[in-house]
Amino acid sequence: MKKVLVTSDLPGNYLTWLADRCEVTVYTGPDEVIPRDELLLRIADCDGLLSLVTNTIDKAVVDAAPKLRVVSNYAVGYNNIDVEYCTLKGVRVCNTPGVLTETTADCAFALLLSTARKIVAADKYVRSGAFQGWKPDLFMGYDVFGKTIGIVGMGRIGQAVARRATGFNMNVIYFDSFKNDDIAGANRVDFKELLKRSDFISLHVPYTEDTHHLIDAEAMQLMKPNAILINTARGPVVDEAALALCLKNGTIAGAGLDVFEHEPQVHSGLLNQSKAVLLPHIGSSSVATRHKMAEMAVNNLWNVLNGAEPWHAVNELREDIR
Ligand code: GLV
Repeated sequence: MKKVLVTSDLPGNYLTWLADRCEVTVYTGPDEVIPRDELLLRIADCDGLLSLVTNTIDKAVVDAAPKLRVVSNYAVGYNNIDVEYCTLKGVRVCNTPGVLTETTADCAFALLLSTARKIVAADKYVRSGAFQGWKPDLFMGYDVFGKTIGIVGMGRIGQAVARRATGFNMNVIYFDSFKNDDIAGANRVDFKELLKRSDFISLHVPYTEDTHHLIDAEAMQLMKPNAILINTARGPVVDEAALALCLKNGTIAGAGLDVFEHEPQVHSGLLNQSKAVLLPHIGSSSVATRHKMAEMAVNNLWNVLNGAEPWHAVNELREDIR
């Protein structure tokens, strides 16, 4: 019987389905994330691994599991996995694209609206009992309707955000270093122009060496003082210390962040900053979507273990190491 390690319990009954077909070990705590030494120990005799974005699947993990055939990530992003090394070792790497596109775009737009209109601070104000009556200057925010949004990374999620922006009559511009085909209703611009022209900038790029600190102090200096930055992609795409400083100095007006550079830690300059709205990496977290991700991750894993094509893989293996 094939052996599988799952690094966390998942929504739905998909792990029960899997446990009827192979020997499944699920890490259920006490820590939030499976400790590194436990991962290395438990994976030793496994054929498959179902991982989360919080698990670093590097050379040491792959080398600790000589029988490993598949790493199925419960996420669309897979910067936590050394894909190149997996490919070299004959390990298929799978992810969950598509099913979370609209949910993540909803979250980006929710962050955009709540940051612009100071929704979280206003909610706290009411709950604290401070609301004593209507005032002309109470929580004056920034308009969204009719403004310019710059989308960095026009993949599935970027395009889903653009569709929402169109409904708000926004002018949509985008930068993408890969996509060459035109996107209806959106204008492609270079990165600097996007920084200079946008009232809102929403990040939808994967995290790679090239996108590390793509938004740094220099980039923020180019942005408008009323600009609001939204990040539902990956934390290290933004230089978090520089962002904290730019918010403090008024270089830009606000930030809506679902991801952080050193998760779960958040820069103290952001924790204390009322111009920032902060979420605990919940971009894809709707009930329906988290269930669909579980179904997809389990099917990816099971298919590879059975010599079938997974629903979605990010690498191809050479014939001779399959
Ligand atoms: C979550 O961050 C994902 O990549 O799906």
